[in-house]
Amino acid sequence: MENILVIGGTGKTGRRVVEQLKNKGIEPRIGSRNASPSFDWDNKDTWIEILSGIEKMYVTYYPDLAVPGAKEAIESLTYLAKELGVKKMVLLSGKGETEAEACEKIVMNSGVDYTIVRASWFNQSWSESFFLDPILSGEVALPMSDILIPFVDANDIAEVAATVLLNDTYNGEIIEVTGPELITFKDIVNIISKTSNRKLNFYEITLEQYIDGMKQMQIPDDVVWLIEYLFSHVLTNPKNQQVVNDIERVLGRKAKTFLEYAQETAETGIWSQVEVQ
Ligand SMILES: NC(=O)c1ccc[n+]([C@@H]2O[C@H](COP(=O)([O-])OP(=O)(O)OC[C@H]3O[C@@H](n4cnc5c(N)ncnc54)[C@H](OP(=O)(O)O)[C@@H]3O)[C@@H](O)[C@H]2O)c1
Repeated sequence: MENILVIGGTGKTGRRVVEQLKNKGIEPRIGSRNASPSFDWDNKDTWIEILSGIEKMYVTYYPDLAVPGAKEAIESLTYLAKELGVKKMVLLSGKGETEAEACEKIVMNSGVDYTIVRASWFNQSWSESFFLDPILSGEVALPMSDILIPFVDANDIAEVAATVLLNDTYNGEIIEVTGPELITFKDIVNIISKTSNRKLNFYEITLEQYIDGMKQMQIPDDVVWLIEYLFSHVLTNPKNQQVVNDIERVLGRKAKTFLEYAQETAETGIWSQVEVQ
């Protein structure tokens, strides 16, 4: 039995990695503020206990490797993990994010075995994260509606992460996980409208209007900063606008399309809930 830690083990990819491991008979330790023992990125006193006895770990940083302080946190955690005898790290990183690449380098140069899983934007942003509310309201206003994005499914990311955690032939590699197609926000809203059988209005707005709208809704400044960064630096980065076939290479099957994700998600009923005003 391997001792595996999943940091962010109740999050979008982490909880799916936990499921994958449990299906293989492995009971991983979960790193989250609500787990026992508790792990908090903002409280280093919680780090030693969670890492003790661990051989391999999947690391997701919250909220994003691009935020101030992420690099320092990844650096401290990586060196503590090495000191405590962790043999392998699988880091979830972001495609087209310069700051995330700096975090990758820390792990790659640490002397610990590693695999980097470098992901494009998640499909689940539309059902488990910040694009869900506009879908529920029926009014989706976004900038950059024609930019092509290889949205990737969190289930595919998790299956890749679990595979590379357990299989050392991927040590030393950067695995780029993208969906199988380039798709725009407009396409996505159309697909969700059709699969959920709901009328959704799409409006093209400027990034400035989008940011002003978030501020008026009193979304916290650090969240607004991150979303502005993701739109202005990550979405527009040509590195993020490419389909890569690493999911097929690792899993031996095609990556999930956005349509497949949307059909499955519509069946859960999450997009049919009417937002209470
Ligand atoms: N979303 C995307 O489209 C996208 C694309 C590419 C890369 N990424 C990368 O994905 C990573 C996030 O992964 P994810 O989406 O799988 O996770 P997530 O859903 O954003 O993370 C939630 C998890 O983090 C834990 N958490 C939150 N605050 C914490 C804290 N202060 N200390 C310890 N744990 C904390 C939560 O548990 P508790 O609340 O119980 O603590 C939960 O387990 C980011 O680093 C981002 O750069 C995201």
